[in-house]
Amino acid sequence: MIVASIAEPAPDRVLARMDEAKRAGADVAEVRADFLERPELGEILARKTLPAIVTARASWEGGRWRGNEDDRIALLRTAALGGADYVDVEFKAYKDFERGKAALIVSYHDFEKTPEKLESIAQKMAALDPAAIKIACLARGAADLARLVELQKNLPRPGAVVAMGEAGEALRVMYARYGGMMTYASIGEATAPGQLPVGELVQAYRVKSVDDGTKVYAVVGDPVAHSRGPRVFNRVFHELGINARYVRVRLDDGALFRDVAAALELSGASVTVPHKEAVAARLDEADEAAKAIGAVNTVTVLEGRFIGTNTDAPAAAEAIREAAKRKWSHGVYGMRALVLGAGGAARAIAWALRAEGARVIVANRTFDRAKALAEELRGEYVAWDRLIEARAQVVVNATSVGLGTDESPFPRELWKKDAVALDCVYVPRATRFLREAREAGAETADGVEMYLRQANLQLQQWIGRGMPTELLKEFRATL
Ligand code: ATR
Repeated sequence: MIVASIAEPAPDRVLARMDEAKRAGADVAEVRADFLERPELGEILARKTLPAIVTARASWEGGRWRGNEDDRIALLRTAALGGADYVDVEFKAYKDFERGKAALIVSYHDFEKTPEKLESIAQKMAALDPAAIKIACLARGAADLARLVELQKNLPRPGAVVAMGEAGEALRVMYARYGGMMTYASIGEATAPGQLPVGELVQAYRVKSVDDGTKVYAVVGDPVAHSRGPRVFNRVFHELGINARYVRVRLDDGALFRDVAAALELSGASVTVPHKEAVAARLDEADEAAKAIGAVNTVTVLEGRFIGTNTDAPAAAEAIREAAKRKWSHGVYGMRALVLGAGGAARAIAWALRAEGARVIVANRTFDRAKALAEELRGEYVAWDRLIEARAQVVVNATSVGLGTDESPFPRELWKKDAVALDCVYVPRATRFLREAREAGAETADGVEMYLRQANLQLQQWIGRGMPTELLKEFRATL
């Protein structure tokens, strides 16, 4: 169930939020009594429109309650006898009290870390015989997320393990897949880091129909917050009637990829900046192209085996080929193609351009990486500050420059009318790189085009079919 956490100062505002949460699809409201100006719950409980959890979070547990402890417990007791459906009592200050018909949630919070020994804490909490256990910890990175997911799977009682912070998003979304009883969501101001709005859980992720048979796919990278993947893949799964979801996993360390994938029981992953090479080195199998490139953007998990492929390469080749045809009515055979960057995306694109017969020139901020890649491809390289020497007809931005900023890795004055440009960055869609190329009269393919092509090929790897044409059209117009 979705619990909307409500932090408002007055009863009428709490009730308005509760209505809003109900309309958005919340199943339960958590009334944060510690946010109330005056700790009176009578009106709220008499007029509530959703089942209510009453929480008066103490300041030593990350809440706002600054009053005395006896008053706090007295408030919870009054709430329990006054119609609350649940009361949330902190494990650290647990006190038994008369609760009438209210069910007990015993909770544990750590806003700074995911501590050791959580399993034994959960056992001690279970011994109090609560209706539910809630354990919420800050996931500092993917290792913490993996631990919290495992804890959720093995929780000795019904309950919720919450992974706070950006790194914990997958568990907030997929809680039901791992046996969680509830997820806490925001309506208005978030009450904890990483909380997602109720509406997003219901509409974008359709969490209400997630069950233990739901397949889980993820984009793994750092950063991933900008990824359009959830919007694209979840829509496609829905339209095709496939019980699967796609989530974002901020992976701070590529070496953790398999641990995280195992904890989340991933069926597949899109791999993005900066892990395309690290993940390529951690597979059971890779196709010839992925091996030659040394970078993967697509992992399919089949019977526990991790199989990698690279859909960036064919996607870039297609996108550049089409743009080239618009410009010159032929492909890129024999053309001078400058690849900016030397990371995973750059490797795939350089490789694909070479396979198309282009003359590849690599440039990268870190010169040694450009040189190494060029030598591998038997291509050329130029220094990052001497891009003019590339005399490029095709220019590809395979760096992350321009992602969320208004910068271009290619000097404006070097653009020529008779050029073709591809940007792998798709947020924003009209990057400075592409705008300047267009202003000079060059033909362009944007990051959305590249993104959708590689995503479509990814989907074919995972489910054996691509996106419906209508949807693809819609994404091209709206992403
Ligand atoms: P991916 O796997 O998506 O290609 P990556 O391996 O981290 O991600 O590669 C990122 C690329 O963007 C690299 O070529 C990087 O250059 P360095 O090798 O010098 O790190 C490039 N890049 C990132 N930020 C950059 C910046 N501010 N200026 C220039 N290049 C940048």
